[in-house]
Amino acid sequence: MSSYFERHIFFCLNQRDNGESCCADHDAQAAFDHCKKQVKAAGLAGPGKVRVNKAGCLDRCAGGPVAVVYPDATWYTFVDRSDIDEIVESHLKNGQIVERLVVPADVGR
Ligand code: FES
Repeated sequence: MSSYFERHIFFCLNQRDNGESCCADHDAQAAFDHCKKQVKAAGLAGPGKVRVNKAGCLDRCAGGPVAVVYPDATWYTFVDRSDIDEIVESHLKNGQIVERLVVPADVGR
C-alpha cells in the first residue's frame, strides 16, 4: 500500500522562554515558511507528494535548528534559505540526501 504522502518534512519550531537554546532562536519559522513556499512553487505539495509540517521539540536541540524527513528518517540542520532550497531540490524532489546538512548521529538534546 502506498502512503498518502511520499514524504513529510517536520520543522522544529519550538520556542523556549527559559533561556535554553531552541530552534525558534535560529529562525526556524522563516525556514519553515520558505520551505513551504518552495515546495508549493516546485509543484511538490499534495497527496502522493510532499507535506511540510510544523513540529514541537524533536529532542535534538543541540543540532538545531533541525528538520527531519520521513520516511527516510534523515535529520537536517540549516543556516539559510539556500540550504532549504537544496533540501527541497535534492531530497524532496529527487530523493538525494544533502549529506553536508545532515545532523551527526551523536547529536541529541
Ligand atoms: S528545540 Fe528544536 S529539537 Fe528541541
